[in-house]
Amino acid sequence: MSKQNESNEVATSVERTPAALDQTSTAQQAPVLIARHGPISLMRLNRPKQLNALNDALMDCLGEALLEADKDPAVMVIIITGSDKAFAAGADIDAMKHYDFVDVYKNEYISRNWETIRKVRKPVIAAVAGFALGGGCELAMMCDMVFAADNAKFGQPEIKLAVIPGAGGTQRLTRLAGKAKAMDMVLTGKMIGAEQALADGLISRVYPLADLMPQTLSVANDMAKLSLPSLMAAKESINRAFEVPLSEGLLFERRNFHALFGTADQKEGMQAFLEKRSPSFTHR
Ligand code: HXC
Repeated sequence: MSKQNESNEVATSVERTPAALDQTSTAQQAPVLIARHGPISLMRLNRPKQLNALNDALMDCLGEALLEADKDPAVMVIIITGSDKAFAAGADIDAMKHYDFVDVYKNEYISRNWETIRKVRKPVIAAVAGFALGGGCELAMMCDMVFAADNAKFGQPEIKLAVIPGAGGTQRLTRLAGKAKAMDMVLTGKMIGAEQALADGLISRVYPLADLMPQTLSVANDMAKLSLPSLMAAKESINRAFEVPLSEGLLFERRNFHALFGTADQKEGMQAFLEKRSPSFTHR
């Protein structure tokens, strides 16, 4: 990022916008700012005045950036973050208030661009500070790992707007936290803090706000030293657990496990362990 070098390592931090916005937006106006920190692509949601309310332009931009990073061989891990005040305060209510059924149905609202993240095969970490509400909470739950600052607030307040979560909130929250907690959050719209989100299984780590980005980058840097095929296979296998019965999930895992014995990185990883040295993976 321009304002700070958040990586512990020497970072090649080039802030830019996805191609679709290069013609029309300066970096400051772009709804997503993208910076490279070595093998990490850091995507910062950037509508600060609207607390990063998620509109179509932002989600198009994020989707494009995610696909680009996923196919870039130099990128190993993706981080999505927001500001200290808001990861994202939800879908853009100002934009949504005009929509009618035919608009959202014909334009495949949500399905068209929000779900791009599901195509990403590399690990995606959400680094959440401040509000993660509605679609913001759903976006975080779409990521593979969620780390939060101690000021984070999670919630699905759509019910207060006379709608319901529409980007997976009723499904992912229920799978993560269970029916009781999901019902309590979705039917009341209440917010929970980071420690509660940790206890409820929405997130895996809580850091003091000032430590969130350095720690997230440090974890991502450590992951970037691993073998990409194994990271992808692990992510794919865990996600499979949400789709299939246990016997099928176990078979899927076993096949992926077997397949990794066909990689050079498996030989290198095991040889390096036995030789008491750090592995040098080629991602082959
Ligand atoms: C559009 C939003 C917004 C949103 C905040 N803003 N959230 N604009 N869509 N989701 C705007 C406010 O209108 C305001 O604009 C500015 O951001 C600052 O917000 P304030 O309310 O003044 O800040 P604060 O008092 O600190 O309160 C923060 C807040 C509150 C608690 C997060 O803003 C809030 O309740 N926001 C809405 C949260 C929500 O309902 N999210 C779910 C949306 S529905 P101005 O111009 O006045 O400065 C949804 C559907 C998901 O997400 C299903 C599909 C994805």
